[in-house]
Amino acid sequence: MNGTAIARAHPNIAFIKYWGNADERLRIPSNGSLSMNLDGLYTETRVTWFNDADRDRLILNGQPTTGPALDRVVRHVDQLRERLGLTGKVEVESRNNFPMGAGIASSASSFAALTVAAVSAAGLELPEHELSALARLGSGSASRSVPGGYVEWAAGGTHQSSFAFSIAGPDHWDIVDVVAVVSEVHKDVGSREGHAVASTSEFQRERVATATSRIDICRAALLDRDFSRLARVVEHDSDMMHAVMMTSTPPLFYWLPGSLELMSAVRRWRAEGLNVCYTLDAGPNVHCITTSEDADEVESRVRSLGCVHTTLRAGAGGPALVVG
Ligand code: DP6
Repeated sequence: MNGTAIARAHPNIAFIKYWGNADERLRIPSNGSLSMNLDGLYTETRVTWFNDADRDRLILNGQPTTGPALDRVVRHVDQLRERLGLTGKVEVESRNNFPMGAGIASSASSFAALTVAAVSAAGLELPEHELSALARLGSGSASRSVPGGYVEWAAGGTHQSSFAFSIAGPDHWDIVDVVAVVSEVHKDVGSREGHAVASTSEFQRERVATATSRIDICRAALLDRDFSRLARVVEHDSDMMHAVMMTSTPPLFYWLPGSLELMSAVRRWRAEGLNVCYTLDAGPNVHCITTSEDADEVESRVRSLGCVHTTLRAGAGGPALVVG
């Protein structure tokens, strides 16, 4: 086997968050989640299988890479080899078209693109839900970067049943994510360590128990294009996740003063009539969720705040695709 393929996948922003695993090894999440793919931003990954190579190789943004990044890729490819009965070693060449440290995690798009490229390069064709489940093994949120548009990941209880699916295509609604970057500093505690300590917070049980009802509200708000309903549930879910983070052992405080300044400005702008709400992942940068109609105004207000270094903007994106 000496096949090669190139795939592209978008990162995504969660409206209802994934935080904590029921099964750490398989990345079966404690609760379902819901997200939007981010158009215009992508990871492009070429995978080539070699019969005669002695080890897997990684070239990241043009640089031959070893250490933890290569180890994580090898662990994921090991899972693909085992589950799909593949032999051979891979060369993985991967590139992001968006900057690191801008509040957009690259693990979702990276593991979605890696999975789709590796499967295609091996000459296999798998249904989308299987590709999503396989991508999940590399990074939980990568399962949501396989289908297109607005995407739900139902927690499931097994490898086969824990996958993401599209609930509406990217053209369903012109939601825009304006990312307000308040810090480019790399986070000390990544998502993986964070998931592992989520259950040490007494609030996690409550967050998980009520997640299904927030998903139902969020899904209905998206399908009805009801922004004010969407705004309330998205902010509440983000606040709940951060309450869990802050009260776990060790405590994880991702918010900076600039994050709080933005959160309160976003609430004020909404009260003034703009369609905008906030959500934050495992970092201080604030995703200001708005519609295309209000995006220019939101971006210019965000940029006028002294705490904001730069902004990034993305609408709803399509699925992970083989592009070569
Ligand atoms: C806060 O998918 O990055 O962004 O499975 O360890 O790679 P790993 O974690 P990851 O966790 C994402 C956490 C989050 C919320 C979300 O995207 O749902």
